[in-house]
Amino acid sequence: MSRAVEVSKDIYYIGVSDPDIRTFDIIMKTANGTTYNAYLIKTVDGVIILDTVKEEFSDEFFSKVESLCSYDEIKYIIMHHLEPDHSGALPELTKRAPDAKVFISPMAQPMLKSIAKTDNMKFETVWTNKELTLGGKTLKFLSTPNLHWPETMSSYLVEDKILFSGDVFGSHYYDNRLFDDLVGDFNYAFKYYYDHIMRPFKSDVIRALSLYETLDIETICNLHGPIIRKNPSKYMELYKKWSSTEDRLHGKKIISIFYVTSYKNTKNMAHSIYEGVEADENLIANIYDMTALDEQNMITILEESTGILIGSPTINGDVPKPVWDLLSCMMLLEKKGKFGGCFGSYGWSGEAVEMMNSRLKALKFRVPLEPMKIKLIPTKEELHNCYVYGVEFGEMVNGKMVEMTL
Ligand code: FEO
Repeated sequence: MSRAVEVSKDIYYIGVSDPDIRTFDIIMKTANGTTYNAYLIKTVDGVIILDTVKEEFSDEFFSKVESLCSYDEIKYIIMHHLEPDHSGALPELTKRAPDAKVFISPMAQPMLKSIAKTDNMKFETVWTNKELTLGGKTLKFLSTPNLHWPETMSSYLVEDKILFSGDVFGSHYYDNRLFDDLVGDFNYAFKYYYDHIMRPFKSDVIRALSLYETLDIETICNLHGPIIRKNPSKYMELYKKWSSTEDRLHGKKIISIFYVTSYKNTKNMAHSIYEGVEADENLIANIYDMTALDEQNMITILEESTGILIGSPTINGDVPKPVWDLLSCMMLLEKKGKFGGCFGSYGWSGEAVEMMNSRLKALKFRVPLEPMKIKLIPTKEELHNCYVYGVEFGEMVNGKMVEMTL
């Protein structure tokens, strides 16, 4: 069991290590394990605890707390994020320190109640510009929703220039040397973590950075992986670069058309739709056979595309696997403002098109047109209808045609 580590005078790391975890939140691989970071601030008037740890590591967490203070000294508990990897030890902590008040964002309130399983927990909600002072230490709160859950927030310790960033700037990377200037190379883990946790919320990352950029930050105390103290601005710049939408297309929007095909019928529909989209010189149309794309390519293309059209036949009453693979990549992307549509040829029942369409709607894509379904081999006239569908979809994406509510 490791000991508490001083991050700065009177500020301690009281987190725990999970070196053997190999999958996090079902979707992330963690080759180097991870850490659940938590912190403790000692002041002349009492103690502030910032976040807790996953429940199964509670003993180590409490032993670190006890090495630094008694429970009646704990005045405040700041919960930047309530995911169980950080809130697991909270119910027990509030039992041991019943007079401590918990600070959370307003969005966290219903979740705190369900975690606490009691109505007796004292809490207060805070947001940007709210402050907490204790024994000469000032914590400024910052609303940073969606990074990584809707209720997440950050805080800034004014006197020590420390940003407590929550999940932001984290890495699933265990190294007991703890600080970025002492651990091994965690660059890949930092980017991988960004891609899986932050990339779906790029606009929220940009909004959070605009708050962070007003602060003089010397140290970033995050919730996972190395604490960043050597060059915090380097990591802030990386987040900015990865979250910014650069205009390398000179204002043109991309519409990507994905298809799978059994007998070239859906493929022929895709090509006619492609020609319709291409008719607008302010759009860039791309066309892809999904069976030849790997996941990384799918993610890159989807990320760059403002409009996404997916075509598939129906096989055994279902959508074939390459299409589900494409649709499952959407989990890692920001969908805000993206348009979607579906098409496909079918032989008998043709359920695939509706299934894909429902999925796009559930993912909060804007789906402005009815899906395009054609029985078996498209006629010349039907292919012309596909062309018109491509033109109309392009006009919707370009804002030239008013979107219908379907
Ligand atoms: Fe580290 Fe989103 O919890």
